[in-house]
Amino acid sequence: MRLLVTGGAGFIGSAFIRLLLGTNRATSILNLDKLTYSGNLENLEAVAGDPRYQFVRGDVCDAALVDRVLDEFPAEAIVHFAAESHVDRSILSPQPVFDTNLRGTFTLLEAARERRLGRFVQVSTDEVYGSVPEPLAADEGFPLRPSSPYSAAKAGADLLALSYFATYRLPVVVTRASNNYGPYQFPEKLIPLMISNALESRPLPVYGDGLQVRDWLHVEDHCRAVAALLERGRDGEIYNIGGSRSLANLEVVRKILRATGRSEELIQFVTDRPGHDRRYALASDKTVRETGWAPQVGFEEGLSRTVDWYRQNAGWVERVKSGEYQSYYERNYGDRDLELKRLGRR
Ligand code: NAD
Ligand code: DAU
Repeated sequence: MRLLVTGGAGFIGSAFIRLLLGTNRATSILNLDKLTYSGNLENLEAVAGDPRYQFVRGDVCDAALVDRVLDEFPAEAIVHFAAESHVDRSILSPQPVFDTNLRGTFTLLEAARERRLGRFVQVSTDEVYGSVPEPLAADEGFPLRPSSPYSAAKAGADLLALSYFATYRLPVVVTRASNNYGPYQFPEKLIPLMISNALESRPLPVYGDGLQVRDWLHVEDHCRAVAALLERGRDGEIYNIGGSRSLANLEVVRKILRATGRSEELIQFVTDRPGHDRRYALASDKTVRETGWAPQVGFEEGLSRTVDWYRQNAGWVERVKSGEYQSYYERNYGDRDLELKRLGRR
């Protein structure tokens, strides 16, 4: 299969490209990526010399570029990972989220429609369901109640993609995964941020009471599910991909402190995220039933491998944390600290 992968230089997209080339499931892959702060070609060093792989730097919102790329590389399918993927950044600056997550998806859908592509995979998220009350687990028919600009834009893009199936019969599949973790994840997300801070013996900033619940999915399990749905998902359908491992954030942070040999004194409770979803829980029965997929990486094993990866790749971490990361960290965490100082809690 000739595949156009968008956002392939990011955390999940790069794992997906490594998986598909490593298992010979794609004859050729073109990776279209803008290389924003989270896009990193180092993530693809393992395939950079592979004749089946090519890279174009560009924006999925640029319709002329997307047309040119698809004219020169007549893909059979698009797997669309490119996004502004971080909730906190979407709260600080919603504009790029609207541009990439919504307008970018529209641009790609239009290009796919004109060329009658054989498959369009819209890689989405369980955050579109919003907070899921105990003891429920969201299935694919669960109401959409996104809480952040990030998840609202993803929900909008999902609906747009599904409308292209209903209206134009574009063979769309929407995948909705839970929280991913694993190697090469940008250290703005909970697990890599806490590992990286712990390894440097810096404070671990836990939002609110730390009892928010997330369902953890190893990135390789996520990519295996997306590959299965690319091949076997039914047109116009939504598929949840959960890790079947629900944990409160504080439990995750404590596990990281144990794995890195650091003291719990590093935990610092900070002002909560606005609109913070309390609990995510996904029912993935449909994906399991229709593809035979199931998560293979247990959380303890996956976390321990991830901690090892961050220990062994200190250079990668240092490079991605230089430059823009510092000013983002100050913008996101500086005010939280100030507020706590004012309240006399630090
Ligand atoms: P990431 O931030 O690591 O990577 C995003 C990639 O998209 C980067 O390489 C970036 O350069 C690229 N990109 C951003 N804007 C672009 C644009 N306008 N044009 C072209 N490329 C652009 O994100 P990730 O964690 O790998 O997430 C990938 C996808 O998976 C996203 O769609 C996200 O919503 C979805 N998802 C993520 C998770 C998770 O836990 N990380 C869970 C479920 C779904
Ligand atoms: O659920 C899938 C989603 O998971 C994806 O769609 C998103 O792309 C991905 O970023 C992730 O979103 P979350 O907001 O759940 O992930 P994040 O790693 O930012 O936060 C996980 C939890 O940890 C959340 O409850 C907020 C909390 N947190 C996060 C950070 C960065 C903290 O307590 N402190 C922090 O410093």
